[in-house]
Amino acid sequence: MAERPRRRIFSGLKPTGHLTLGNYLGAVRRWVEEDQYRADALFSVVDLHALTVEHDPARVRRLTRQAATLLLAAGLDPAHCTLFVQSHVDEHARLSYLMECTASDGEMRRMIQYKEKTARETDHGRGVRLSLLTYPALMAADILAYGTDEVPVGEDQTQHVELTRDLALRFNQRYGPVFTVPRATRPRVAARVMDLRDPTSKMGKSHAETSGIVYLLDEPDVVRRKVMRATTDSGAAGDVRYDRESRPGVANLLDILAACTGGEPGTLAAGYSSYGALKKDTADAVVETLRPLRARHALLCADPGQVEAVLRAGAERARELARPRVDAAYAAVGLLPPG
Ligand code: AMP
Ligand code: TRP
Repeated sequence: MAERPRRRIFSGLKPTGHLTLGNYLGAVRRWVEEDQYRADALFSVVDLHALTVEHDPARVRRLTRQAATLLLAAGLDPAHCTLFVQSHVDEHARLSYLMECTASDGEMRRMIQYKEKTARETDHGRGVRLSLLTYPALMAADILAYGTDEVPVGEDQTQHVELTRDLALRFNQRYGPVFTVPRATRPRVAARVMDLRDPTSKMGKSHAETSGIVYLLDEPDVVRRKVMRATTDSGAAGDVRYDRESRPGVANLLDILAACTGGEPGTLAAGYSSYGALKKDTADAVVETLRPLRARHALLCADPGQVEAVLRAGAERARELARPRVDAAYAAVGLLPPG
């Protein structure tokens, strides 16, 4: 009997800022601990996506290298997964155009992230790049080019993966069965890590106000300070309960603590009678979680050639995997093959 092919996993991360604890707990940690071992997994620093908002070329280049280095430092192992930079593989942009020809304008405009970001950018009196609207077409291309079954992401990406499913189904129905229909997978806890100072908004790496954001490369004392200054909720300071609606600040700390220690946020709450103690334990847990990553990052920075070699080999494999499916999609829609 033919062996069932391994499941395919794809996920990506934009080089728009320094990686945060939200990226790590929401996505990267599962890539490292589970996904790379249980499936044929591809992970990409999706640099084309970083051009959808105002950007500084030198910074994008630096952040792309840094993100790749951090992913290796976090534990992605090139012997078990494929790590590459999106712009090194032409098939993403090539397939993105077909996705734009599959999606509708209305569908793109309904994306929550598009609405949020256009509101923010317009606030500053700048125009919004057209690519911010078409971004989900490129993201769908990233995923569909590889016949992906699963997309491990944080909660904020659910809508984009749903759209990718719709596009895959629509394309297959119109032109024949070219694409696998993927699904999003989320972590058990901490699928949405909130900003420590403003626990009603996501901890986002491109936010200007950074006091509520823990970066993976923050020094331990900086991590401690940020966690100790987290906004907790009004109400009796001794009343530690897990309630994301009415106590978002405390719930966020409990989520982070649970994610770092492997517990359950609701159960952990019962062990605390003060916010101070909860903050202290959370700070310690985060520092310990990030310690090995920081150490490995320092080693890798001393050997940039190693990271480059991984990215080169990764792009090569990704190209080989994506090419036949993107060619098949081009042929299916009626484009004459080059012969
Ligand atoms: P991005 O930084 O937007 O490229 O996101 C990379 C990955 O991290 C995606 O899977 C996101 O869903 C995830 N992610 C980003 N911010 C958070 C957060 N605050 N909480 C949980 N997951 C997050
Ligand atoms: N849009 C994702 C984010 O903002 C990043 C991303 C781009 C992605 N392409 C992807 C994630 C493909 C998963 C799969 O986080």
